[in-house]
Amino acid sequence: MNTQTITLYNGVRIPNIGLGVYKTKEGTEVKQAIKKSLETGYRMIDTASIYKNEIGVGEAIGESDIAREDLFITTKLWNDDQGYETTLKAFDLSLKKLKLDYIDLYLIHWPVYGKYVETYRAFEKLYQEGRARVIGVCNFHIHHLEHLMDNSDIKPMVNQVELHPMLAQIELRNFCQKEQIQIEAWSPLMQGGEILENPIIKDIAKKYDKTPAQVILRWDIQNNIITIPKSITSSRIVENFNLFDFSLTEEELQKINTLDCHKRVGTNPDKYDFV
Ligand SMILES: NC(=O)c1ccc[n+]([C@@H]2O[C@H](COP(=O)([O-])OP(=O)(O)OC[C@H]3O[C@@H](n4cnc5c(N)ncnc54)[C@H](OP(=O)(O)O)[C@@H]3O)[C@@H](O)[C@H]2O)c1
Repeated sequence: MNTQTITLYNGVRIPNIGLGVYKTKEGTEVKQAIKKSLETGYRMIDTASIYKNEIGVGEAIGESDIAREDLFITTKLWNDDQGYETTLKAFDLSLKKLKLDYIDLYLIHWPVYGKYVETYRAFEKLYQEGRARVIGVCNFHIHHLEHLMDNSDIKPMVNQVELHPMLAQIELRNFCQKEQIQIEAWSPLMQGGEILENPIIKDIAKKYDKTPAQVILRWDIQNNIITIPKSITSSRIVENFNLFDFSLTEEELQKINTLDCHKRVGTNPDKYDFV
């Protein structure tokens, strides 16, 4: 097993796979999942203040003997905390809960209208102070990114969005590639949903003696998309990382591309109710 990294436009290297911990319970559940993931070889953990498990994430990191600089920890600013001063406060609280003195990747969780530009100014300060090595956004459409870039100094380095073969986000990916904004895929497995039963994915999986989940995550990696599958099941944590001993052919990648039908399991950011 072998993980790989992608170099962001500011020179920071980010692993191309990490463990997502949305809906993973604070305490023993999140600690066990992280412990298993670190033993398996994962080095990136994706949490958020709204997941309410940052304390457990911090404890799991603290109890591991992996050097801090070899880990890549992501957390996110929740919508209620958007605004300049409130962002700085929320960042400090996340750091405290995680028992860290810097965050590798700090993300705006959703593009709250009228607030995200001011919020991002605080992100720029945190970046300039070296307290966040990488700053970015989640759930930004092209129009949000354009607006943000027109009103800020430091281009976001990452955009984390819902992305899987049924929501391939081609236009956004092309835009981000042109702008050197790295795409990360959330809900890469459609939260364990219908994509895992898709006959095209299942056929390809059979050929390589892999699972549908592994084929989808491999499709992410070969498309230069960072992926953060969530699992609390030890065998799946191992399975989802076991991606580096096979390669999909160009024809297989194209076949998977035909599954794109703009289907979301989460909310469209333009329809999100921020009140
Ligand atoms: N920025 C955002 O707005 C945003 C939004 C949503 C998610 N995220 C991040 O993205 C991460 C991943 O997304 P997600 O948690 O929504 O969904 P996901 O990773 O697509 O799917 C997780 C679900 O699939 C199951 N699963 C995992 N591996 C599997 C496998 N190999 N075979 C079959 N089922 C499998 C898990 O079950 P078990 O756990 O029971 O094994 C869980 O129910 C989150 O944890 C979070 O860190 C970010």
